[in-house]
Amino acid sequence: MSIRPCLFVVLAAGKGTRMKSSLPKVLHRIAGQSMLAHVLTTASGIAGGKIAVVVAPGMDAVAAEVLRVAPNARIFEQVAQRGTADAVLAAKLALDEETGGDVIVLFADTPLVRGEVIERLRAALDGGAGVAVLGFRPKDPAGYGRLLLDDGGALTGIREEQDASDAERKIGLCNSGVMAFRVSKLSGLLSQIGSANAKSEFYLTDAIEIARNEGLKAAVVECDETDVLGVNTREQQAAAEAVWQARARSAFMRDGVSMVAPETVWLHFDTQIASDVSIEPNVVFGAGVTVEEGAQILGFCHIEGATIGKGARIGPFARFRPGARIGAKVHIGNFVEVKNTTLEEGAKANHLSYLGDGTVGAGANIGAGTIFCNYDGYNKTKTEVGEGAFIGSNTSLVAPVKIGAGAYIGSGSVITKDVSPGALAIERNTQEERPGWAEKFRAVMSRRKAAAQRK
Ligand code: UD1
Ligand code: MG
Repeated sequence: MSIRPCLFVVLAAGKGTRMKSSLPKVLHRIAGQSMLAHVLTTASGIAGGKIAVVVAPGMDAVAAEVLRVAPNARIFEQVAQRGTADAVLAAKLALDEETGGDVIVLFADTPLVRGEVIERLRAALDGGAGVAVLGFRPKDPAGYGRLLLDDGGALTGIREEQDASDAERKIGLCNSGVMAFRVSKLSGLLSQIGSANAKSEFYLTDAIEIARNEGLKAAVVECDETDVLGVNTREQQAAAEAVWQARARSAFMRDGVSMVAPETVWLHFDTQIASDVSIEPNVVFGAGVTVEEGAQILGFCHIEGATIGKGARIGPFARFRPGARIGAKVHIGNFVEVKNTTLEEGAKANHLSYLGDGTVGAGANIGAGTIFCNYDGYNKTKTEVGEGAFIGSNTSLVAPVKIGAGAYIGSGSVITKDVSPGALAIERNTQEERPGWAEKFRAVMSRRKAAAQRK
């Protein structure tokens, strides 16, 4: 790990036209978090690093995202999007203040780069290079700049695809866009870059030839394609998502989480899962989920904004929305939706229920088809079920309402008033019985049918 200070220049001003979106490209998400936030989080994790982010004028949402994720970052505007070198120069003020440290350029559309890969790049500067480029060999190099090496394997330049000859396009080693410089007066070097190329843009990649002309050494550090996938299209976004998911699943499995079919489990950037949790196929985690030790998540659950306690058993087909707090050893079965509701230890809701804006005491049993009627079209109100209460099947609990500890509710009741602890509440019409009715009914019906057939 390098001990020099460093300045990250994160480029985020590109229009991202290939995404065909009204949202700026760098705010598109991977694992529920913007690509920009992924890059800023990685940069913030490197000790001694300062961050400058280059945005385009009017990109208020991008600037707001920078301040949310990295409040100490400085924001610079690139007046017109004239290429990556011009974008780095937009942060000239920060570049000129950086004396003696490394300058590392990151692209906000390259969200998977990891701190350890950046440190490998900086090690090349320790080895005497003035500029180091992170290179990779993608399966399909189309669209990437190609790294030009001399016979001795030294980096001599980078050729953008649109400017490349047929022979140069056959080169498999590509530019990831991540570059590190140890150059005093980097802005002086970059301002020598011109725009005589296919796109009439100021290419940062031209910095290599200029640095070499000034007698500096240029180095390539190779990394895996999965570390530096660039996202310019929705398909590349999906490819980056797949890489992120695969990495996150592997990390959880290494930490003691079981997944029967990991490729069908979808995680969020902030998902937390403890050891000895087991996850069956087709489970989706949204934002803000914590799963504690030993919980079992059966197939096809959709979980968002929830805490799942130790040893709880969830699903199959459970749905948790924000504020679902599932205590230890709670059982939640199929087609149960929980929102803003706490279930204390050992409570059970095994079938077909909606539990919204409520509390369920320890050991209480919620029967099939129970609904917490929490909303009257204007207000949301609370249902409280006491410890050890038993709610019979097909009960509507019309909030605000409290069911006392240990009380019983008869099946099919619509409960609108509080129920005392230990009581039975039942709300149904008296059942009526007419002996022999069915036989008479059938006789009438069959006579009518016979008459109709004779006509
Ligand atoms: C760039 C590299 C290419 C590399 C590829 C890796 C150049 C000239 N080309 O091409 O060699 O293989 O990335 O993904 O550097 N940006 C600005 N202002 C601008 C232009 C771009 O801030 O005026 C930002 C974009 O928001 C993006 C990054 O710079 O985050 C890269 O721009 P993009 O247009 O995606 O470059 P590529 O064509 O992908
Ligand atoms: Mg790009």
